[in-house]
Amino acid sequence: MGPMPDYGLVTALLAPVYTGYFQDSIILWRHHRNQGLSAVQFPTIARLLMIPAQASTDFVYPHRHLLSIEDLTPADINGLLDLADKSAEINRDVRKKRDTLRGRTVINLFFEASTRTQSSFELAGKRLSADVMNMAVKSSSINKGETLIDTAMTLNAMRPDILIVRHHAAGAVELLSQKVDCSVVNAGDGSHQHPTQALLDALTIRRNKGRIEGLTVAICGDILHSRVARSNIMLLNALGARVRIVAPTTLLPPSPERLGAEVFTFMEQGIEGADVVMMLRLQRERMTGSYVPSTREYFHFFGLDQEKLAYAKPDALVMHPGPMNRGVEIASSMAELPRSVIQEQVEMGVAVRMAVLEALSYQLPKE
Ligand code: NCD
Repeated sequence: MGPMPDYGLVTALLAPVYTGYFQDSIILWRHHRNQGLSAVQFPTIARLLMIPAQASTDFVYPHRHLLSIEDLTPADINGLLDLADKSAEINRDVRKKRDTLRGRTVINLFFEASTRTQSSFELAGKRLSADVMNMAVKSSSINKGETLIDTAMTLNAMRPDILIVRHHAAGAVELLSQKVDCSVVNAGDGSHQHPTQALLDALTIRRNKGRIEGLTVAICGDILHSRVARSNIMLLNALGARVRIVAPTTLLPPSPERLGAEVFTFMEQGIEGADVVMMLRLQRERMTGSYVPSTREYFHFFGLDQEKLAYAKPDALVMHPGPMNRGVEIASSMAELPRSVIQEQVEMGVAVRMAVLEALSYQLPKE
């Protein structure tokens, strides 16, 4: 987490004048309370004056789109994570609505099935007061043979401010971003990138471990087809983690070491001493042949169970981006462990997407 100034009582009293400073103070206070540290004393009047307003931050996101983790510097990543920490606080409030995107239009354009990512973006947009439209791809002209670019141009003519796009082809979202006037967020393109997933994973790790740098993170399973793995490897490397990938050779890309991680084909070796064990789904919808002899055998050698997890650090976090195939890549009991943060990943998903929408909104034309 970035350094936070330590506001005292005087600042707290003056802070309502500067909404941003004030919100920072409240967040700092909550942070201290959550950490069990001595809380800064806040007068009741100050709490009453905490009118919901747009979360303020010194961070300026320097891009028009969010297409790939590759485009982000460590400062961009940390800025988004800090902003998402604030969104996570908002999401735990009774009143969650903020004004940040009032008057803006966000369109969700998902060419691939999705539950959590699409609903997460929808909720994020709504919590920031945007008008959010979910484009129903199944019943749209896309199924009548319209090309991706024609769809993009049609939506562009409706003047959205932000388009959230998921597509089964790697590179499709970037191509689309070159044809439209609005900001574009990549919500997953084929086996290529899924930047908001990597950001929400990093946020979950940082909140539980207090840092990313120096941690050993083992990403296990279907690396070959996983955009989650690709985005995570880039992000975790950028923030100084040690990244390992663990998979049978059939589920590794050619020259896997070029991904920027240490490669293991034995699960026990791959997760030995790990601080984080991140499991991935077997992505059958992307498989064109037979990659594993049987799901039973796969679970035996690569499924996370009590025995294999014992090789990781005793406090290692268990993660999974979802949807989970219980009994295939992860035993049901592992997903229910107290150190499984799978539900927290979903919660942080909304926070990260709010942060991304907010960051992009500052780049949108004001007039
Ligand atoms: C991931 C995806 O779509 O790439 N899921 C997600 O975004 N929640 C991983 C997966 O589908 O297995």
